Amino acid sequence: RTRVLTGITTSGTPHLGNYVGAIRPAVVASRDPQVESYYFLADYHALIKVTDPARVQRSTLEIAATWLACGLDPKSVWFYRQSDIPEIPELTWFLSCVAGKGILNRAHAYKASVDKNRAEGVDDDAAITAGLFMYPVLMAADILLFNAHKVPVGRDQVQHIEMARDFGQRFNHLYGEHFTLPEAAIEEHVATLPGLDGRKMSKSYDNTIPLFVPREQLKKLIAGIVTDSRAPGEAKDAANSNVFQLYQAFASAQETAAMRQAYADGIGWGDAKQKLFERIDDEVAPLREHYETLMAKPAEIEAILREGAARLRAQHATPLLARLREAVGLRDLS
Ligand code: TYM
Repeated sequence: RTRVLTGITTSGTPHLGNYVGAIRPAVVASRDPQVESYYFLADYHALIKVTDPARVQRSTLEIAATWLACGLDPKSVWFYRQSDIPEIPELTWFLSCVAGKGILNRAHAYKASVDKNRAEGVDDDAAITAGLFMYPVLMAADILLFNAHKVPVGRDQVQHIEMARDFGQRFNHLYGEHFTLPEAAIEEHVATLPGLDGRKMSKSYDNTIPLFVPREQLKKLIAGIVTDSRAPGEAKDAANSNVFQLYQAFASAQETAAMRQAYADGIGWGDAKQKLFERIDDEVAPLREHYETLMAKPAEIEAILREGAARLRAQHATPLLARLREAVGLRDLS
């Protein structure tokens, strides 16, 4: 079976971009009997950005409840929390010892921070942590530990998958064929969802629409999406409209075509936003109810996560790390 793996960083509340770009397609893919799915909460990664422990905990619970509310069946997929698997940081160290520092220097997130420092005229590495620098190595460990074939991600993550291949290849070259080299699976038709201000919807830009806000708040947030100032009756440019792109992510091909026509015919922004709100709410309302029930039972979520990690460690992580420890010349712990 093809092993498919992906994670979401537990640094905030899940938003429509996570849902459309990652969760919805992943839940659909997990129902394919030819696929073995690994979906996890990247809470070690969260520590790179978030130093508020309550926020990490809250986000972990919210993202776990979101996966489950969206229909993930924890009995038929591997569903777990990264920090429940201590083999991941152990493998991170092994990979650190083969990863080229020069390659990490080129990682987008690190480079962006250096560029920002340069623009501000401070030292290149000012306020940049070793954790941020090592981000791609930790991500490589997530992927290589479970010998994933495919990693569905957004474009921004492709470089990380290439680095995981590079580190895995170097390790294999030195110590024998332990790792499958992963491939990024970029779904061309899965749009990068724009946020309220038109940039990519992202926790870092503070422009998100949370997936499970109450109806009234959803409506208010949608009303606040930035548009151009064309009046009702004037033709609207669907291709360049955030409101339209969001609509398209939730509507059928037929509904989308009808809406494109309505834009050309000069639908007012108020009406377009109302239609968008109704379309999103139709899809999300039943999930929201399920989400609220789950959030009221944190102990159940916790049990699901622990059970997933315990099985995964016993069946995959612990035996693989035992082989790796032996391969590099360390003591057998068992
Ligand atoms: P993260 O938490 O930033 O994003 C999680 C997933 O959501 C997708 N996504 C979007 N898709 C469409 N439109 C948007 N506006 C949008 N915003 C986010 C992302 O592409 C991603 O698929 N480093 C990863 C987490 C990670 C991981 C891994 C992923 C850690 N280890 C191993 C895969 C394999 C991250 O920060 O994703």
